[in-house]
Amino acid sequence: MSSSKETQPTIFVIFGGTGDLNARKLTPALYHLYLDGWLPQHFAIIGSGRTPLTDEEFRTKLLDDINQFSRSGKADKDKWKEFAQHIVYQAADVKDAATYKKFGQRIDEYKKEWSVQPNVIYYLAVAPEFFPTIASNLAKSKLASDTTCTRIVIEKPFGHDLESSRELNKLLSDIFDERQIYRIDHYLGKETVQNIMAFRFANALFEPLWNRNYIEHVQISVTEQLGVGERSGYYDGAGAMRDMIQNHLLQLLCLVAMEPPVNFTADEVRNRKVDVLRAMRRFTPEDIRESAVRGQYGAGWMQGEQVPGYREEPGANPKSNTETFAAVKFFVDNWRWQDVPFYVRTGKRMHRSASSITIQFRDVPHFVFPPETAESWQQNRLVISIQPEMSIRLQVQAKRPGLDMMLNTVDMVFDYKGTYTSQAPEAYETLLLDTMLGDQTLFMRGDQVEAAWDLLMPILNSWQGRASQSFPNYSADSWGRKWRRRSSPATDSIGLRSRLMAMNKAPRLHIYATPTEVLTGLADYFVELANQAISKHGRFSVALSGGNSPKKFYELLASSSYRSRVAWEKVDFFFGDERYVPHTDPESNYLLAKKALFDPLQIASSQVFAIDTALAPAEAAQQYTQTIEDYFGQKQARFDLVLLGLGDNSHTASLFPHTPVLHETGVGAKEVFVEEKKAYRITLTAPLINQAQAIAFLVYGADKAAAVQRVLTAERNVEEFPAQLITAASGELQWFLDAAAAALPNGQK
Ligand code: BG6
Repeated sequence: MSSSKETQPTIFVIFGGTGDLNARKLTPALYHLYLDGWLPQHFAIIGSGRTPLTDEEFRTKLLDDINQFSRSGKADKDKWKEFAQHIVYQAADVKDAATYKKFGQRIDEYKKEWSVQPNVIYYLAVAPEFFPTIASNLAKSKLASDTTCTRIVIEKPFGHDLESSRELNKLLSDIFDERQIYRIDHYLGKETVQNIMAFRFANALFEPLWNRNYIEHVQISVTEQLGVGERSGYYDGAGAMRDMIQNHLLQLLCLVAMEPPVNFTADEVRNRKVDVLRAMRRFTPEDIRESAVRGQYGAGWMQGEQVPGYREEPGANPKSNTETFAAVKFFVDNWRWQDVPFYVRTGKRMHRSASSITIQFRDVPHFVFPPETAESWQQNRLVISIQPEMSIRLQVQAKRPGLDMMLNTVDMVFDYKGTYTSQAPEAYETLLLDTMLGDQTLFMRGDQVEAAWDLLMPILNSWQGRASQSFPNYSADSWGRKWRRRSSPATDSIGLRSRLMAMNKAPRLHIYATPTEVLTGLADYFVELANQAISKHGRFSVALSGGNSPKKFYELLASSSYRSRVAWEKVDFFFGDERYVPHTDPESNYLLAKKALFDPLQIASSQVFAIDTALAPAEAAQQYTQTIEDYFGQKQARFDLVLLGLGDNSHTASLFPHTPVLHETGVGAKEVFVEEKKAYRITLTAPLINQAQAIAFLVYGADKAAAVQRVLTAERNVEEFPAQLITAASGELQWFLDAAAAALPNGQK
């Protein structure tokens, strides 16, 4: 972070020198600091570990590590030779006083040789149970008594909970001055993360908008394809909440939510971050279910390879209750952020590795364009991509070039790759350099760590006390136990979408003499839409309906007349609604589609996005919302086609009369309790359905005639006739009816 200062002669003592962290991160980082001229003329690296090794053996190992893990590939022979001269090894038992005596002697030798008082950095790259032993032994042997020249670097986990983090802080503060303690959260060293502060506080443009008046919600997501692998020993006692949210994700949240610091000094910046943690709304036992979701991955396929479930990872507990996915809705109770949700999520074995922060702005207060101009409409968003993509994108509406007025969402992009030619340094390079320079801005202060634990303890306690019955509940390469809302109902209710919906556009009616003709008419329409979509953007997304009417339709699509007319491997299937029954139940919409459509057409499971009824209804709906959002990514969630049926009480999807879901303004899926059936269902919300490119009702049979009449001709009364909610915001709305359902004598059009 600091750039103008010169580094002083430094000795690094790395505990855990033969370990994974040193191999993957510390050595490659030190090597790059050396290559880039950041290391002083006098520096030494003393690696220590339990294994007896000669200096030469240790250096050979580190060279292999650099060749494998360095961001610039294989080491340069000459440079490595020079660098390696600064490295020595000392086999050590951290419990033994003699170990520290030897360190002391080595340090004295360097002092003499260099004729200066060097900085000594003790890096604890070891399991946390060794922190207290090493810290107390450093104190006993007086190796860290000089508070200006000696520093101790501690890796996470910093404690296991609030109490243990307090104990560790107490132990460290009895020995060291806070100025000597560098608690690492490597996310803070990432280039894109450091840029959040630059972006916010070096520009006049964003700060005036950076508050509840303009921001609707914030999403912070860190997903990884990697599983836990060999790390079960550590991970099983931690889980996603402790491993990622307590530190990395909450730090990202702090950077987004903090007040502008007065200056850029370590304490000022950290004070502002602690302010955020202290302002965060506390969780009560009652709202944990609503605010936090957990998941654990099962076996699956990742990029063509079969991967084990979490419980089958080497060394894992086969009954483990540890979460590998966690999502939490936070609020920051202060003037700036009151009632703005911060949705935070992380998970392992997810479909994609991607870390990003999305700031979603509120909708325009008044829409001046005719509704049909909104080809795609999205509230403004600022997307800060942290990794692997490194970019900042501002998503705005613009006029598509042409003679007509058509509004589209476009990106204004700052892309690191396109803007800078130099490679971004690794987080550990920044953090090691800052440790040498004595700059603690990017390190966690003791009170910060405790405040983060304090916030999360109710959730951690609740999860620990309540083993999940459904683990594992997502399979590798899925989108995990997903949960995030795109818009909050309170703010969206006056939004554009609802206004567009209110401008009820007349649907097109296609009335056929017989049910068979209706099915053929709809199948032809399906084929036409599918081919259009596939040639335009490569895939066709369709939300299926359930119930009896579509069964015949699916069978027709799978029949020899239609199967060759669509590139089925390019079709992705969603569900407009689902009954809250297992997927093996004859009532299940999924089962219906599977039998009639997916199996006969050999649709791959990766093309089928089912609603997970193994979850609690609200969770199933939240997860499905997330599935849809993830599928569409940064684009508006817009199905190419939503197929709908009509119930004789005028419901469609599972939008039943007089249910709260009718008032749902969020774009996603929602659970609904259907009184007359005494059962839950999960349904897409009307705003999501209305966003579709095309919506098609399939209705046949005389018993539907009354409902059709009411929905299409009665005065608008959505409580009674929920299908009236379906009006299509900017796409096509078509009804495929037979004469009986249209209440016309047979054959009459
Ligand atoms: C570590 C966690 O702190 O961060 C790991 O312990 C996680 O579980 C890693 O995989 C993610 O870091 P990065 O830099 O790869 O996003």
